[in-house]
Amino acid sequence: MQKLLVANWKMYKTREQAESWARSMIQALPPQGLSGRSVLVFPPATAIAAVAQVFSGHPSLSVGGQNFYPGTEGAFTGEISVEMLRDAGAQWVLAGHSERRHIMGEADALVAQKVLFALEHGLRVMLCIGETLEEREAGKLTEVLERQLGAVFSAAGKLDAASLAGRFAVAYEPVWAIGTGKVAGTAEVAEAHAVVRRLLESFAGESRIPVLYGGSVKPANAGAIVHLDNVDGLLVGGASLDPQSFLQIVSA
Ligand code: PGA
Repeated sequence: MQKLLVANWKMYKTREQAESWARSMIQALPPQGLSGRSVLVFPPATAIAAVAQVFSGHPSLSVGGQNFYPGTEGAFTGEISVEMLRDAGAQWVLAGHSERRHIMGEADALVAQKVLFALEHGLRVMLCIGETLEEREAGKLTEVLERQLGAVFSAAGKLDAASLAGRFAVAYEPVWAIGTGKVAGTAEVAEAHAVVRRLLESFAGESRIPVLYGGSVKPANAGAIVHLDNVDGLLVGGASLDPQSFLQIVSA
């Protein structure tokens, strides 16, 4: 399976900064394009169109939205729709990121609703799941991952392998490793990814849904993680902001 290297910029970068980052990426690409790898960037909503424009014509580079409201249009002040994201050039959207779960208070049911809505309206979805330190220490890793994935799959009886092919990915991001500099060890990543893979097989009958790791990925640890069994890519926050650091991760 191709490895997917993902940059999540969170609430960073103006349009100009985003465009300059995207140009650095294009300039660093080998003339034949990336081999066995693809890059996906989640800019803030205001910079999606700028990045999509720079990336156009490069099939291994794509853009996504970090968030949206699950409705077609209407009186939802401050929100952005799937159609608007697509119009700006987004092909993907994030759902269930731990910052949205824990800072914005998005519960499993809303995350599930967003996943289904985006899939039904033509965006690919990267669903983020992961346990807090407290949950891990209480031995609840499997229980939490099963609850978070189960919420999505039970809300949508019809989400099976065929309907998800190429349109759905899962990012395992232990909450205690996001933005903390504390990366999960390779044994911890391997263990959690095996659990996610087993759960996806039982929920969707699918073993080929990409499962990415995220949480304090840096150039120094990317290689050890991305080559593990059951790791199909990396979701990178802080270390994706600098193009040179992200490029090192892309080629790790
Ligand atoms: P981080 O963020 O790489 O800064 O830990 C990862 C993420 O939030 O997706």
